[in-house]
Amino acid sequence: MKVTIVGAGNVGASCAEYILLKEIVEEIVLLDIKEGFAEGKALDLTQTTSTLGFKSKVSGVTNDYSSTSNSDVVVITSGIPRKPGMTREELIGINAGIVKSVSENLLKYSPDAVIIVVSNPMDTMTYLVNKSFDIPKNKIIGMGGILDSSRFKTYISKFTNHSQHDIDAMVIGGHGDTTMIPLTSLAKCKDELLSKIVSKDELSKIASETMVGGATLTKLLGTSAWYAPGASVSYLVNAIVNDTKEVLPCSVYLTGEYNVEDICIGVPSIIGRNGFEEVVEFDLDQKELEMFNNSVKAVKQTNLALDGLI
Ligand code: LAC
Repeated sequence: MKVTIVGAGNVGASCAEYILLKEIVEEIVLLDIKEGFAEGKALDLTQTTSTLGFKSKVSGVTNDYSSTSNSDVVVITSGIPRKPGMTREELIGINAGIVKSVSENLLKYSPDAVIIVVSNPMDTMTYLVNKSFDIPKNKIIGMGGILDSSRFKTYISKFTNHSQHDIDAMVIGGHGDTTMIPLTSLAKCKDELLSKIVSKDELSKIASETMVGGATLTKLLGTSAWYAPGASVSYLVNAIVNDTKEVLPCSVYLTGEYNVEDICIGVPSIIGRNGFEEVVEFDLDQKELEMFNNSVKAVKQTNLALDGLI
């Protein structure tokens, strides 16, 4: 198995590191536009081989897409991250053109790869790839929901003292501060409903802290996060290359599921070797359904900015 990661910045390099540690692929190629940057990150990572004890190989290239040929999975992290005070949606002007040309180059050399889109605004970038190329919809997956769910679990753990390993919780909807939907009605700690363990007030605090989870980190770090985003991508890559058929919240192209169409937005999806195999329709309560429909409206509004590009 071969994975290409485009963008050797914080998120791209973390993806490479965690995929290496998981030992789930033979080869990783890091690609960046900045001369020597991906080569440097790959060399640094290669020098962890003996101390960390993994077998996979990692190499870096400057804009040489021929080195990415025959990748099974490609991960797009290119573009600029947000700065404190910015929304993910504000990045569209710069990132849309970059994501389109990066995917075009990747597809020339790996036409059958599963494409993971991480660049923001992620749902709109995933939609852009869907609309720009004639490839099966199931091969294009936006990664945001796995990350948002891991933040949701972090805050549930903080409020309940339950280990994150005992928490079952998911975030669907858009990967935006106001568009994501932490499914509080379905969240469980050790098989007990979260809503039975914490007060209504705490439940809404958990949800709101989750929604601005990325912004909280951007404020603390001066740029957007990378450990949890990289780890979430590695989780998704594992589900694909090992064909796990797990139900993961991913941004995928909808054709009537949840009563919406012509949009990419986070929904529970069965993930395997061919990308997303099926969308799973959860039983949402009235409030969550309303939030989902509002999220759809907001993401569709952001997608309008792609006019001229698709
Ligand atoms: C975040 C960015 C990667 O949520 O979207 O941290």
